[in-house]
Amino acid sequence: MAGMRVLLAASEVAGFAKTGGLADVAAALPRALAARGHQVAVVMPYYRAVRFGKQKVEPTNKVIPVPCADRTLAIRLFRGTLPNSNVPIYFIDAPHYFDRDDTYQGRGIYQQAMPGGYKADYPDNAERFIFFSRAVMEAANVIGFIPDIIHANDWQTGLIPVLLAEMYRQKPGWGRMRSLFTIHNIAYQGTFPPEVLKLTGLPGWMMNPKQLECHGQLNFLKSGIVFADAVNTVSPTYAREIQTQEYGCGLDGLLQESAQKLSGIVNGVDYGEWNPAGDPHLPATYTSETILDRKPLNKAALQKQYGLPEEPDRPVLGMVARLVGQKGIDIVLSAAPGFLDLGCQMVFLGDGDPEYHHQLKQFAARHPTRVGVYLGFNESLAHLVEAGSDLFLMPSRYEPSGLNQLYSLKYGTPPIVRATGGLADTIVNATQENLNAGTATGFAFGDYSARALYETVKWALYLYRDRPQDFRQIVQTAMAQDWSWDRSAAAYEGLYRRLLPA
Ligand code: ADP
Ligand code: GLC
Repeated sequence: MAGMRVLLAASEVAGFAKTGGLADVAAALPRALAARGHQVAVVMPYYRAVRFGKQKVEPTNKVIPVPCADRTLAIRLFRGTLPNSNVPIYFIDAPHYFDRDDTYQGRGIYQQAMPGGYKADYPDNAERFIFFSRAVMEAANVIGFIPDIIHANDWQTGLIPVLLAEMYRQKPGWGRMRSLFTIHNIAYQGTFPPEVLKLTGLPGWMMNPKQLECHGQLNFLKSGIVFADAVNTVSPTYAREIQTQEYGCGLDGLLQESAQKLSGIVNGVDYGEWNPAGDPHLPATYTSETILDRKPLNKAALQKQYGLPEEPDRPVLGMVARLVGQKGIDIVLSAAPGFLDLGCQMVFLGDGDPEYHHQLKQFAARHPTRVGVYLGFNESLAHLVEAGSDLFLMPSRYEPSGLNQLYSLKYGTPPIVRATGGLADTIVNATQENLNAGTATGFAFGDYSARALYETVKWALYLYRDRPQDFRQIVQTAMAQDWSWDRSAAAYEGLYRRLLPA
């Protein structure tokens, strides 16, 4: 069957700018689609991180007229390719909006550090991403890439499906275009005072609860859900969960109504980046055949890097996460003294809420030989934590898909997860029954509580120490799992195809 033309818009793309898993998806899915024969292009903002980044990016001779409120700004378009591919990625160069991130000054792509250490969203985020969404549409026009599918992601691009439905589909050549909106995290909705509507060029009557409005605010995520031709989240379980009050963050009713066009596709792993067999970040690469000899070398390097005594027999629990409420740091911190009593070392890599930074630092200071903490973003260390730990902690309160547990599988570091969202869909719990069947790949618990987490870690440690055959079987089964992008890309392909007019 003929390939489709797909334009994917995202506010972050790995290799250029990243705060979390969205960036990984936005880089890997287009590559996997291209490998399946589709014509794919990506658009993101030209942040300062892109301008000074490692990937080569060049100006094009295209100038894009972008209407914003009552004026039109002419912006430049830059171009590069996604790392390790020929997939084009275009960058919207609007310095006023996007040339401001600077790690040393505490300025990120969405937020800036305030006095006292906490981070606040930029006050003009609505304007920035309204502008970006409009620029994506205009850029498609100017570069002459009018796709079959426009694929928007998260609240930052939530207005794209609206712009398509209300403004662009009427244009010659745009009538057949369909939109897919992917929700990576329903907790971030992009809600703003109604006045920002005038920046969008959309008519004022659209501010009503059936369309763009939610409790008097303009809600970007809701808008995307209402107007997209199809909506998906990043796992089937999360797609069900967000239709409940507990997980829906106020949009559960709308999602129930939209259930016909809502589905879930688990993310894949970019095994070009995340594979212990050839990982340049590791002191010792390994496969499922060599893991017994080689993992200890990574473990020693990890202990050393965190300033912990290099004790090969002490189990190391690792955690890499954005330090936000979603990720379960609170129950980890409550249960952690118990983990130390069970003889563990713990290593943390994360960045996020200052309160968690503070608590983790204090915990490490009290137990300098047992607890290591690195606060900040460190790509290379993320790989070493995956490779050097014995068990990986991911007890999320909710988890739309999750990538780290999939990395853990590949690195032979059984993950300990709470059975929610993508974690429930990807990890097979080491119950006695699953051990007997040879299907277990990690450890899962249900209750969001320190006790449930503690009991699960205790069981995992029992297998690790007293039933090494069983533990090795879990490691081997975990490493044999295939969560490559091709599987997810095939599912996206099917979804796109169902949207296209006959
Ligand atoms: P989320 O998108 O909710 O943060 P995921 O598990 O989908 O969760 O993806 C997180 C991604 O971000 C992974 O690639 C992980 O390695 C990376 N990551 C998170 N925090 C850090 C950090 N402090 N340093 C390096 N990488 C990090
Ligand atoms: C979000 C979710 C995470 C998911 C990622 C990419 O950040 O928290 O679970 O893997 O998006 O889809």
